[in-house]
This record gives sequence, C-alpha cells and structure tokens, in this order.
Amino acid sequence: MENKNAKRIIIANWKMNPETLSEAKEILSAIKKEAKKIENINIVVAPPAIYLGRFKTGESDDVKLAAQNMHWEEKGAFTGEISSLMLKDAGVEYVIVGHSERRNYFGETDEIINKKLILALKNRLTPILCVGESFEEKRAEKTPEIIKSQLTKALENIRQKQVQSKNLLIAYEPVWAIGSGTTPSYDDVLSANLLIRKTINSIYGRGIAEKIPLLYGGSVNAKNAGGFIEKSRADGLLVGGASIKATEFLGIIRQLSII
Ligand code: PGA
Repeated sequence: MENKNAKRIIIANWKMNPETLSEAKEILSAIKKEAKKIENINIVVAPPAIYLGRFKTGESDDVKLAAQNMHWEEKGAFTGEISSLMLKDAGVEYVIVGHSERRNYFGETDEIINKKLILALKNRLTPILCVGESFEEKRAEKTPEIIKSQLTKALENIRQKQVQSKNLLIAYEPVWAIGSGTTPSYDDVLSANLLIRKTINSIYGRGIAEKIPLLYGGSVNAKNAGGFIEKSRADGLLVGGASIKATEFLGIIRQLSII
C-alpha cells in the first residue's frame, strides 16, 4: 500500500474457536469497545460461520466481519457448504481464501482457490488471499517460487478491472509460522512483500501493485506486531491464536495504533 496515511488493517482469524456463542460475544464486545477508541485501523473479525449471522454488523460498525471460507458456487447441492450470497446477506464484507489449513487439511487446490476468488470478487466480498511456503519448501529455498506460483494461479483469468486497489488483500503466511510461536525475520517478510508486489506488478501493473494491501500472518503477538509493519512494510496483520485472547489482541491493536 506504501501510503503512510492509509489505514492499517488487523484481521482476527478465530478458526474453530471459541466453543460457545456467549464466549464469542464476549471477545467481540471487548474488541468493539477498543475499536471505538481507535480510528486509524480497520478491524475485521473472522469467527466460525455459525456465529456470523449472530454478529450481523452494518456499514457503520467499527468492526467488520469476515468469513473463514466460502464455496466456489453460489448455490446448489453442496452439503455442508456456505455460499458467498449467504455471507453477503449476513453482512459479511471479507472472506479468507486459500488459508494453508484449508489447503492442507481440506485439499484446496490452486484451482479451487482461483474459483473462490472469482466468485468472491463477483459478489463484492473482499478476499484475503493467503500464500506461503511450508517448512520443507523453505528449507529447499523455494519460498519465492512458491509465493509466485500460488499468487499467479490464484489470480488466473481475473482481469485487472476486477482487482481494484482495495478489493483484494494478500496475506503472506509461512505455513511453518502458523500456530508455532516461530516467526520469520522482519527482513524475510520484507522480501516476501517485495516479491508479492513485484508479481502483482507483472500481472496487473504498478497502479495496483503499489496500492494492494499486504498482510503478514503467523504467530503474531503484541510484542512482534509492530515490527512487521515498521520493518517488513506490511499494511496489516492476520492474527490467529492471539485473536481469541482479548487482552493479547487488544495489545496488538494498540501497538499498531501508535506506529
Ligand atoms: P496464528 O495463525 O496467529 O495462530 O499463527 C495465523 C493464521 O492462521 O492466520
């Protein structure tokens, strides 16, 4: 995004937590209370789908909603799945696409991810596209190759007109950093971010490449959060584990609000 005045973005990916609606409401209300005091950050919460309808938020809400997943078709015989149209109807504005847990545990291929992106953009949901290498790929020094290939395949047949500056977010999430307590160096995330912008530049040109918001995700906490913004030039963060501990998550929000 490379624009100092642009708003930072923090996305809370709750994954399959917490266990009850009342706990979920408690965390959300703590986040909303903090959000009221903070103007320079967009805060987005991605709860499990069953809570989304219960959290219905409006345009003017300080905290926006994201889905953790959606199906690549709008409707039909797809037992257990959720449609982008249903998400829109529930007031959801963002959707995480291509998270490594979806790729690894649910067999999501680059082709499926591409179809989901196309549909999300068509139905005006902002996709948060996740890319990142596994530990083995990192060890084999394949990180740049993996990032480039995941990005290129995810964006296949998506025209420049469909990807305007703010309707797609890209999150660099090294698989080995997710939930592990280990993070890449700020320099490594900076290199990944530069490579992502370069790849977007070669697909869509500079106008989009410079403005597209880039996030970092993987073991973000209140201590390391600021560095990814200041040293790695990320525009925001995708936070998993720390986002369901209200105090830790509020700490991350506060960190970002002062840098
Ligand atoms: P983590 O998860 O913060 O628990 O590492 C990040 C993510 O999976 O998006």
